[in-house]
Amino acid sequence: MAEKKAQLSVDGIDETIELPIYEGTVGPDVIDVRSLVSKGVFTYDPGFMSTASCESKITYIDGGKGILLYRGYPIEQLAEKSDFMECCYLLLNGELPTAEEKDAFIDDVKHHTMVHEQIRNLFISFPRHAHPMSVMIGAVGALSAFYHNDLVIDDAEHRQAAAVRLIAKIPTLAAMCYKYSIGQPFMYPRNDLRFSENFLYMMFGTPCEEYVPSPVIADAMDKIFLLHADHEQNASTSTVRLAGSTGANPYACISSGITALWGPAHGGANEAVLDMLNEIGDVKNIPDYIKRVKDKNDPVKLMGFGHRVYKNFDPRAHVLRDAAKGVLEELGHENDPLLKIAKELERIALEDDYFIERNLYPNVDFYSGIILKAIGIPTNLFTVIFATGRTPGWVAHWHEMISNPFKIGRPRQLYTGATFRDYPGK
Ligand code: CMC
Repeated sequence: MAEKKAQLSVDGIDETIELPIYEGTVGPDVIDVRSLVSKGVFTYDPGFMSTASCESKITYIDGGKGILLYRGYPIEQLAEKSDFMECCYLLLNGELPTAEEKDAFIDDVKHHTMVHEQIRNLFISFPRHAHPMSVMIGAVGALSAFYHNDLVIDDAEHRQAAAVRLIAKIPTLAAMCYKYSIGQPFMYPRNDLRFSENFLYMMFGTPCEEYVPSPVIADAMDKIFLLHADHEQNASTSTVRLAGSTGANPYACISSGITALWGPAHGGANEAVLDMLNEIGDVKNIPDYIKRVKDKNDPVKLMGFGHRVYKNFDPRAHVLRDAAKGVLEELGHENDPLLKIAKELERIALEDDYFIERNLYPNVDFYSGIILKAIGIPTNLFTVIFATGRTPGWVAHWHEMISNPFKIGRPRQLYTGATFRDYPGK
């Protein structure tokens, strides 16, 4: 029973409507408006600016303070002390694994990294120049054709198996997208390597010679995956939940999340940041670019800046900014001209009233692109890397939703179209 209550009086409704208020363990209270439909009114919240779409125990963000917690653990501590596989386990299971549980989980993931040979045939039907995100949407959706008939989503073990398969196979598909686009043979996964090492091997190895992944690059890759692993009810996760709420196949649901992620306002921003830095081309062109960004009549935005929830620095950007320095030094890219432009953009934006008044700070995508570029990941694959990192978050939310009582997601609308009218003529 909720102790706090909100009272709502609505013109045309005689009674005062009492709405329960729920308190989370942390964060703003929420007003339960579910009873409003029975009174003949709906709430109106395009873009879900003020709407909690579900109850969740997975990830917490305090956008004002720049806090991001996976299952209570701050992202900075996880980035320093944990790794992607451990975070996958944490997001899925709610607690950090013991050493044995972690080994068993890693082993489980490793033994599901191969994709069905038929998937190769699927790849060859795509144009080589296709955007890798379009191929990922198709390839991950296609997994539902291989894992459907025996899959019972009400069975927790089946859900866990689907989660492990998705975490294991999406990097394989991501690397296949790259290999296909450059005409090189697909590389089978190697179980003797760590998750991020195996990913780099599938990306950059060839059958012709030995490939030894650099530990520095593998660590940076792991950090990028970890920092992207979950972000509560963002557009792609909400899409996965909405698709999942119909009882649809989880592989198809994750494919719908990848679709939502592709847009430049969401995961596609990391690619757009690099395009922007290239367009600016030189530090001397920044003032003109900033002028364009501030011009209401110019649609150009400072990509990698701003966030729906963070109205302070994105904590993931902090971690990546520090990581970028180390990685670029290690790779001998510390004088990268794009990094210079990025640093100067950040300096100007943090001092400029336009950005200060609107709370526009660098987000995770601002620095991830620079690191990915230094690692040798092509720009059009950046959002695929984001999708690979976000997979545990998507599956954790899908799993959480299906494990609890849930309703099909079915928003309503404020209808402003034509009212009833008769079809003209006979
Ligand atoms: N550059 C310039 N102005 C901006 C920017 C930007 N990047 N972002 C927001 N604004 C302005 C916007 O024009 C508006 O100004 P005004 O009040 O004068 O009309 C004000 O700030 C509020 O913006 P909004 O569009 O209402 O904010 P939102 O919460 O709806 O949008 C956002 C958030 C992330 C879509 C937006 O900030 C944006 O498009 N940023 C660039 C794209 C980007 O980097 N996206 C990655 C987000 S982080 C990765 C992820 O989690 O997906």
